[in-house]
Amino acid sequence: MEKVRATAGDTSWFIHDRFGLFIHWGLYALGARHEWVKHNEQIPDDRYDSYFRHFDPDLYNPELWAKAAAQAGMKYFVVTTKHHEGFCLWDTKLTDYKAPNTPTHRDLLNPMVKAFRDQNLRVGFYHSLIDWHHPHYVIDPHIGPYRNQPDRAQMNKGRDQAKYAKYLHGQVRELLTKFGRVDILWLDFSYPKADGSGKGRKDWQSEKLYALIRKLSPKVILNDRLDLPDKFDVKTPEQIQPLEWVRVNGQRVVWEACQTFSGSWGYHRDEASWKSVEQLVQMLIDSVSKGGNLLLNVGPTGRGEFDQRALDRLAGMGAWMQRHSRSIYGCTQAPDEFKAPQDCRLTYNPQTKRIYVHVFAWPFKHLHLEGFAGKVEYAQLLNDASELSLQGMDEWHLSQLGSQLRQRMKTTLTLTLPIQKPPTTVPVIELFLKK
Ligand code: GLC
Repeated sequence: MEKVRATAGDTSWFIHDRFGLFIHWGLYALGARHEWVKHNEQIPDDRYDSYFRHFDPDLYNPELWAKAAAQAGMKYFVVTTKHHEGFCLWDTKLTDYKAPNTPTHRDLLNPMVKAFRDQNLRVGFYHSLIDWHHPHYVIDPHIGPYRNQPDRAQMNKGRDQAKYAKYLHGQVRELLTKFGRVDILWLDFSYPKADGSGKGRKDWQSEKLYALIRKLSPKVILNDRLDLPDKFDVKTPEQIQPLEWVRVNGQRVVWEACQTFSGSWGYHRDEASWKSVEQLVQMLIDSVSKGGNLLLNVGPTGRGEFDQRALDRLAGMGAWMQRHSRSIYGCTQAPDEFKAPQDCRLTYNPQTKRIYVHVFAWPFKHLHLEGFAGKVEYAQLLNDASELSLQGMDEWHLSQLGSQLRQRMKTTLTLTLPIQKPPTTVPVIELFLKK
C-alpha cells in the first residue's frame, strides 16, 4: 500500500472513523438564505445586526443534534465557533459580538461540546480567519459586505490588521484551552492575491498562529487553509468528490471532502437542491473508496433546530450505516490489484482483509470482479449475511462470450446475484480474502 504523508496531528482515529458532521450556525440562520448573505447582499453592520438583536434559538437542544449525528453513524463533529460574519457562539472574553449578549443570553458552545462528547463524538472547531465585523479587519476589494465601497480607503483609516491578528490568535487560544481536548481545528480561509490585495499568511500571522496551535494542542488535526503550503494535516476538497486519492507533491495525503445536504452551509429555507439519501450514502462510500473522509453539513435554524429535511437524511444514512458501517469504519482504498466493477466502489479493511463491493447500480444476475479470481474464500451480502455463490458462470454461458472475453474471465471472479436488488439504499457485498 502506497505511503501516506505523515501528519503532526493525530489522524489515526480520523482515518478510521471516516464520517463527521459539519455544523454551520450563526446569525445568518435568521437570514435563512446562505451564510454569505452579508457579503452577497452587501448588508451594512447596522442592518445586519437586527439578526443579533433577534437571535433567540429557544428550541436549541444540542443533545438532539448529537443523537441525530450519532444515529447517522457520524463519529466527530465540527462546528462554526465563528463564521465570516464575526459572531461568536461562545462566551469569548475578546468581543461583545457573542451569543451571551443576544436574547438567548447563554454560551451555546459549551453545552454543544458536552452533548456531542456524551454521544462519544470527537470535537472539532471551525473558526473563520475572515471577519466582516471586527473593527481592525482591513476591508479588501474581494470579500465582505464593504468590498465595493468607493470610500473603502476612508473606512480602513485606523484599522490595524495586526490588531485583528492578535484578536484571532487570542480566540484560537481560548478555543484550544477552555473546552478540554479539541480533536480538530478547521480554520477558514485564505485568499492571497499576487498584488497583495487579498488575505493570507501575513494577514493572519499564520506562522505564529501555527506555532501557538502546536504549543497548545500538539495533536490537534489542522486543516489546510492558513496559507502555509506544508503546514497542514488534512486537505479539504469542498463541494466536490475528488477523482482519486488526494495528493500533494505526488504523495497521498489525509483528506476529507466537506459537503452540504443542499447548496448552502448555513440554514437556507428556500434552497431546493437537497441531495437524496442514496446520493449522500454514495458520497460517503466514494470518499472512503479513495482513502478519504466525508464531513457532511447541517445548517440549524434560528430556533436552534435541525430542520426536517436534514433529520430525514441523517436518519436515512443511519439506517444504511446500521448494517453497513463495517464497510466504512476502518476501511480505505482497495489495493490496486483489485479493480472496481462498473457502477461499483470498493472499500477495504486491511486489518480484517475484507473487501467491500458497493453496488451503485444492481446488475442482472452476475457481477464480474476482475483481478479477484482465486483470492476470495467467501462472499456474502452485508445487509443480511446471505451467502453469494463463487461458482461463476456455467460453461454454456461462458461459451457464449467468445474467446477474447473468455481469456479475461480467467482472472475474473464472477458472483451470482439475486435478481432483485437487496432492500437497502446501496447494497454491499462482503468478500473475505484468502489469508
Ligand atoms: C467556504 C465558504 C464558507 C464555508 C466553508 C466550508 O470557505 O466560504 O462559508 O464555511 O467553505 O468549507
